[in-house]
Amino acid sequence: MRDNPGLDLLGDYPFQRLAALLEGVPAAEGVAPIMMQIGEPQLPQPDFVAGEIARNAHLWNRYPPVQGSNDYRRAATDWLTRRYQLPAGMIDPARHLIAGCGTREILFQTALMAVPSRGAANGGGRPAILMPNPMYHVYYGAAVLAGAEPVPVAATAETGFLPDFAALDPALLARTALVYLCTPGNPQGAVASLEQLQDLIRLARQYDFLLALDECYSEIWRGAPPPGGLQACAAMGGDMSNLLVFHSLSKRSNAPGLRAGFVAGDEEAIARLLRVRSYGGAQVPGPVQAAAAALWRDETHVDENRAHYNRLFDMARRILGNRAGYNDSPGGFFLWLDVGDGEAATLKAWRHGAIKVMPGGYMSREDPVTGENPGERYIRVALVHDADTAEAGLTRLATALEN
Ligand SMILES: Cc1ncc(COP(=O)(O)O)c(C=O)c1O
Repeated sequence: MRDNPGLDLLGDYPFQRLAALLEGVPAAEGVAPIMMQIGEPQLPQPDFVAGEIARNAHLWNRYPPVQGSNDYRRAATDWLTRRYQLPAGMIDPARHLIAGCGTREILFQTALMAVPSRGAANGGGRPAILMPNPMYHVYYGAAVLAGAEPVPVAATAETGFLPDFAALDPALLARTALVYLCTPGNPQGAVASLEQLQDLIRLARQYDFLLALDECYSEIWRGAPPPGGLQACAAMGGDMSNLLVFHSLSKRSNAPGLRAGFVAGDEEAIARLLRVRSYGGAQVPGPVQAAAAALWRDETHVDENRAHYNRLFDMARRILGNRAGYNDSPGGFFLWLDVGDGEAATLKAWRHGAIKVMPGGYMSREDPVTGENPGERYIRVALVHDADTAEAGLTRLATALEN
């Protein structure tokens, strides 16, 4: 079999690297290990989920429509319209929105869809895909496997944990096919303002790249609800060209195992993505779409979740407050702690506290300009448990880091 050098460029997935780092390292004895390395919400889903799946069991016999059922797309459209106060009719569920199995797959396929055509249209040169650094690793993998040049752009304390794409070399922007941005961000939880989103949409149109806004943490916030890309479009007159937004039930509704999300925005990009998905995308199973539609229609559980996360952040502030550069983030459920050496702190947390965390350096890549990995000083800690487990985890982490 021929080699595929792209796969070498990808390297191991962060969770594999973490497993290798901790291999053979004993966890602290006498306490149950707590998994704070992964963003898997541990609270239950609303009771009606199981009922909806059972009620729609007849749909297991049908291939689900690739674009999603009419009812699912209607529920997602109505949710977007309510959440971002969009003008009625701005989103047509038949033209502007398709279902996805969560968001990972559709984020990945967006690179497959965007690279050759947009890259070629942008006047030659190797198509580039820009992304924040640190990043959700799928952006990097998608860029490499789509044959584009992945360009990580610093999102550090100095830049307010958001990348400054507009400051890049115009020659790079001219060959950019796609830009990924996550707001609220994973891992740092920074939120782009409405003005920043509008500026970025203008930049996308100026250079004719596609902007993929990953908004899967949009419902987990402290203070004010994060603005969204479609809201920015509405504020600029309603045109959604060059923009796609991605939403998921994994974080909003504690349902990472359900695999339900959607992508919405630019009509042409949606049609192209649907074509890619018709050939190589997994459909969301019919009974799952029915349960997912019910979840998009319910806000009670989302409000309760948010209140729970807010209590966990109050707890984190109390326990870690003056350690590791603790900083309240406006969104998401991760702590991004400046511990000086992320790998060393990860080993300590495991050895002395039986707490698993993610070294920040595994969430980021070498900066193409400075050659430095901006995540190396950090660890990422997921606050996704019930209050007692989170309190035990944070307390043991605080003590372990002092070793
Ligand atoms: C930033 C970000 N985007 C997308 C995803 C994908 O989640 P899902 O496919 O479950 O929607 C994740 C999951 O952790 C994430 O952290």
